[in-house]
Amino acid sequence: MTDLYDLRAADAIDGEALREAFNAAFADYLIGPMTVTPDSWPLLLARQGAQLAASRVVVDRDGRVLAFALIAPIGAGRSRLATMGARPDARGGGHAPRLLDRVVAEAEARGERTMELEVFARNERALALYRSRGFEPVAELHGYTRLPGAAGAPVEDRIDEFGLADAVAWLEHGGIEGLPFQQTAPSIAALNGPGRGPLKAWRCAGAQVIFSDADPQRVTLQALVDADVRQHGARQLARALAAHYPQATLRMPQLLRPDRGGDALAGEGWQTEPLHQLLLRRTLVPKRAAG
Ligand SMILES: CC(C)(COP(=O)(O)OP(=O)(O)OC[C@H]1O[C@@H](n2cnc3c(N)ncnc32)[C@H](O)[C@@H]1OP(=O)(O)O)[C@@H](O)C(=O)NCCC(=O)NCCS
Repeated sequence: MTDLYDLRAADAIDGEALREAFNAAFADYLIGPMTVTPDSWPLLLARQGAQLAASRVVVDRDGRVLAFALIAPIGAGRSRLATMGARPDARGGGHAPRLLDRVVAEAEARGERTMELEVFARNERALALYRSRGFEPVAELHGYTRLPGAAGAPVEDRIDEFGLADAVAWLEHGGIEGLPFQQTAPSIAALNGPGRGPLKAWRCAGAQVIFSDADPQRVTLQALVDADVRQHGARQLARALAAHYPQATLRMPQLLRPDRGGDALAGEGWQTEPLHQLLLRRTLVPKRAAG
């Protein structure tokens, strides 16, 4: 870096400056502006698993955050690029590529073997950056919506309801590889804070759905995972949700792998959302054994 810019750990700067830079970077985001309030900032960090000590920012001489890369070391020799961004007026200046090179080098120095991230397939600028640094798609992540009033097939199997702690434990011990972080136990557990619930969890055969019906008109699925590739359980869960909430719009955001439950939703008539994400992974060259 030149003297004009400084690359720092994200926990060495004012948290408000980082949040403000995040809002600036995502003000023109592909799916619409993302504005995070001071109250919701801690939840965003927790949901993303971001560790500020491992995350890096570029600041200018006035201490303004120009670009950031939030990193989540997620265990088993893996890191996740939780999010990155550059202010519109700082794009094209090489800050984002340098940040990415730095966090990759630091993950390798921690002994990690892979880094992963999610990106919208239509986010061409970000995708070009990630591809130039060796990130490759490993899965598509789709969103699905079911509008109220559509006819549904009858539920054939028993549906069991569980508390969230059981549901998180199921995710933790299920041994299901290759899920986006937001569908894994630590990220779901972060949703269970005061004022954030209640979340419900239903299970059928090898599948589990975790969802919020706080707004009975708009039920949001947080995670749907079917361990069985035939997705019989996920189909039953989709039918049970439709039967239980006939007046609601049911929505799964763009985080669901077709081979882990998405095909079941599509088969039950849920509409696939036009924009989808890609789960990208890069193989790292660990410089020591992971700690
Ligand atoms: C994604 C982001 C961090 C990249 O930082 P940046 O400073 O804009 O990155 P660069 O200018 O170096 O561009 C990255 C690559 O995209 C290319 N690019 C530039 N503009 C482009 C465009 N409009 N369409 C496609 N590719 C483009 C660049 O040429 C470069 O490729 P190269 O390395 O092969 O030359 C930044 O654009 C941003 O904050 N975007 C909004 C938030 C966001 O989408 N974050 C990522 C979420 S996963």
